[in-house]
Amino acid sequence: MPHAVLAVDQGTSGTKALVICPERGVIGTGTVPLAPRYGPGGSVEIDPGTLLSSVVDAGRQALAEAGEPVAAVGLANQGETVLAWDPATGEPLTDAIVWQDRRAETVCAELTPYAGELTRLTGLPLDPYFAAPKMAWIRRERTREGVVTTSDSWLIHRLTGAFVTDAATAGRTQLLDLDQVAWSSRALDVYGLAGERLPEVVDAAGPVGDTTAFGPAVPLTGLLVDQQAALLAQSVTEPGAAKCTYGTGAFLLAQTGNTPRRTTGGLVSCVAWRLGGRTSYCLDGQVYTVASAVRWLTGLGVISGAADLDRVGSSVPDSGSVTFVPALAGLAAPWWRGDVRGSLTGLGLDTGPGHLVRALCEGIAAQVAELTRAVAADLGRPLTSLRVDGGLTRSALLMQTQADLLQIPVEVSALPDATALGVGALARLGLDPRLTTEQAVPAWRPSAVYEPRISAAEAAERLGRFRTEVTALLERTTPQV
Ligand code: G3P
Repeated sequence: MPHAVLAVDQGTSGTKALVICPERGVIGTGTVPLAPRYGPGGSVEIDPGTLLSSVVDAGRQALAEAGEPVAAVGLANQGETVLAWDPATGEPLTDAIVWQDRRAETVCAELTPYAGELTRLTGLPLDPYFAAPKMAWIRRERTREGVVTTSDSWLIHRLTGAFVTDAATAGRTQLLDLDQVAWSSRALDVYGLAGERLPEVVDAAGPVGDTTAFGPAVPLTGLLVDQQAALLAQSVTEPGAAKCTYGTGAFLLAQTGNTPRRTTGGLVSCVAWRLGGRTSYCLDGQVYTVASAVRWLTGLGVISGAADLDRVGSSVPDSGSVTFVPALAGLAAPWWRGDVRGSLTGLGLDTGPGHLVRALCEGIAAQVAELTRAVAADLGRPLTSLRVDGGLTRSALLMQTQADLLQIPVEVSALPDATALGVGALARLGLDPRLTTEQAVPAWRPSAVYEPRISAAEAAERLGRFRTEVTALLERTTPQV
């Protein structure tokens, strides 16, 4: 009987697959990059076929490298990315509308009178980031045929024939009753989605069905939305601890235990995972553009890529007078103003690439600091450290800037690919329910710890400068929602 599991993280910018052996760790990896199409009106789409083939190809690459069979598969998904598809044939009826897509602003604008009720029911603010506005937009603008679901349900259907979603992914729609962890008929009514055929809401670990996509039939036993999978892999299982993943966007999640905690600070209250019928909850805050902002700077020729951030940034001691609010796809928590766009102020004739890089790092770190402040207010106590993962944690400049602005240590996970590791742990739990979460999740240890190097007063001054800029940006943009 094989011991290893195949863990697949289907993300926005690519799909990563790992073959994970409980004794030997990661024994095979596969990666397939993806490139969503950015269009006018804030459209961000991707061909669903490329999502599915990236899952299959990355999985097969990882298995070929491992050279041994696996006992189970786990799949992490992007969360709020949706599409319509034909449940009889499994064929997509639309492109996948990616979580960053802003075209459902029109839906949200109409539903403004219901915003408070929806938030009370689901824990989520009214924003096109979430799945339900996009589902309603697809129904109005694209097709009334088939089913409309988050991308996980489609991928799982194509892999196994099952029609399911895990409780945490369902919680990213604004259609899930947060207290009941069941579809809310009231939210469905408000969105005009009553009567839609919705996937069954299942636990994050447990057999869902078999797949032959990677070779001989193997059960899919782990499924979870990506940020929550990273939360699990970072061993943030106790109330009060938090992690931040720096990927396409940055996502800060804090555990709140087995009862939902409604935010008062503009965060998202949502499901962390449901295991054995028992639900854990978390608070969640987002920075929409992080690696995408780095890519944007790369496109301008300021840097040659993310690996160049530290070299260019260290050519100057500070950002000079430059402040960058990198809201290139709007502002999420705690502002929820998807309509604003980024600003770059304080430019002078002496401004060079290094200043822009430092201003970008400060802009990202300042947004994460705002989220951390909101989490601390909701939890009633400050965070004492922050666990971090994701590709951009390789930038010492960004991580040091983060520790400086937060004034707490930033602990970088030694385990890259936290999301895949989290869903790999779930695949093991789903296969062997006698395992505890602690036994299934790889031991957490940091590869680096960044301590704050500036004074609290200087951190406050820099954050104040950023906030002033955000306030000015909000004031000069007319709200649409
Ligand atoms: O909410 C969207 C987020 O979970 C996507 O993460 O890693 O695909 O950028 P990632």
